[in-house]
Amino acid sequence: MKAQDYIALELEYGAHNYAPLPVVLTRGKGPYVWDVNDKKYFDFLSAYSAVNQGHCHPKIVKALTDQAKTLCLTSRAFYNDALGPYEEYVTRFFGYEKVLAMNTGAEAVETAIKLARRWGYVKKNIPVDKALIICCEGNFHGRTISVISMSTDPTSYSQFGPHTPGFVKIPYDNIPALEEVLEKEGDRVAGFLVEPIQGEAGVKMPAEGYLKQCAALCKKHNVLFMADEVQTGIARTGERICCDHEEVHPDILILGKAISGGVLPVSAVLANNDIMLTIKPGEHGSTFGGFPLACKVAQAALEVVEEENLAEKATYLGEIVRHYLKGIPSNRIELVRGKGLLNAVIITPKDGVEAWDVCMKMAENGVLAKPTHRHIIRLAPPLIIKESQLMQALDLIKKSILSFDN
Ligand SMILES: Cc1ncc(COP(=O)(O)O)c(C=O)c1O
Repeated sequence: MKAQDYIALELEYGAHNYAPLPVVLTRGKGPYVWDVNDKKYFDFLSAYSAVNQGHCHPKIVKALTDQAKTLCLTSRAFYNDALGPYEEYVTRFFGYEKVLAMNTGAEAVETAIKLARRWGYVKKNIPVDKALIICCEGNFHGRTISVISMSTDPTSYSQFGPHTPGFVKIPYDNIPALEEVLEKEGDRVAGFLVEPIQGEAGVKMPAEGYLKQCAALCKKHNVLFMADEVQTGIARTGERICCDHEEVHPDILILGKAISGGVLPVSAVLANNDIMLTIKPGEHGSTFGGFPLACKVAQAALEVVEEENLAEKATYLGEIVRHYLKGIPSNRIELVRGKGLLNAVIITPKDGVEAWDVCMKMAENGVLAKPTHRHIIRLAPPLIIKESQLMQALDLIKKSILSFDN
């Protein structure tokens, strides 16, 4: 079959809920993926930062295949010998007393919301069904009904209502707005949910100190500070989690994507006992949450982060990326921003050329990335990429952008 045939099959039999670049991938290794014509690309999307450890990392794949031959799924009706060791590892890794294992990022966000509400009723004595969660405009926390109820992007929420009540939306990176809601409604607020950097919004970075100030305000008002680090966590921005840059330890930490190195859908909610133990047996769960296969894979994926110093690499290589991109002599580049290896180029759409067209040209030249909105290209290669490989990829990106000026 040819590339066009695979695309036709997806169009014919799959829901049309994505608009992919017309590239049909068949295998991956490290920072590379290959299409069905055996063309090699640098992967600068990394499955939206799920593949931080690189494609098919041998250690993670070995953990997967060894465990797959032994025991895959038991459900949580019984104990298994993979979950406990993983729970110990992951809680120590991130510095929490407890973890609640789930599968996707959106599920972990849902879990965090339930946990915050429950804590609000049990520990803060918020009147029943009156709990509020504060969230930020421009957020992306996933696609489930409650999660899209927090969204301010009509593409996410419109014509999917009725939406879940109990969310207060405030501008991102705006301390006075948070302060105002907390002053007015603090007694009813269970949690404040925030992305340390808004990835899907286009790698939007708050002012330095924002997270620290938010956390302090939450503490003052007895509100849980909840960080959605599904995209920013697991070394992507140069620390284990992005909140580490400001020495903020979230009350509830939400992780997904790269916690499994992109090998399985694995997500996690971390918190201390006083919060986590407000949920009792039978009150929350998932058939696959914490299944043995996921536990072995996630532990291996986190070990890789440590063994290969991926956070330090992200910091070092990120500086190179931003410096290089800022030096590209094109007036189409409006801005370059990011932290670690989560970066974005903001393009001025002109002469009919938008971010999509630049991504198409990049693909032609051997680098895959996907636009977010009409004018932003996120650049997030796997963190295992070597400096020499990164330089090659940057040259290709430069060539692609400059091609529109000729
Ligand atoms: C910050 C953030 N939270 C949650 C999600 C949802 O994760 P999932 O697609 O695994 O449900 C994403 C996905 O892009 C994300 O970037």
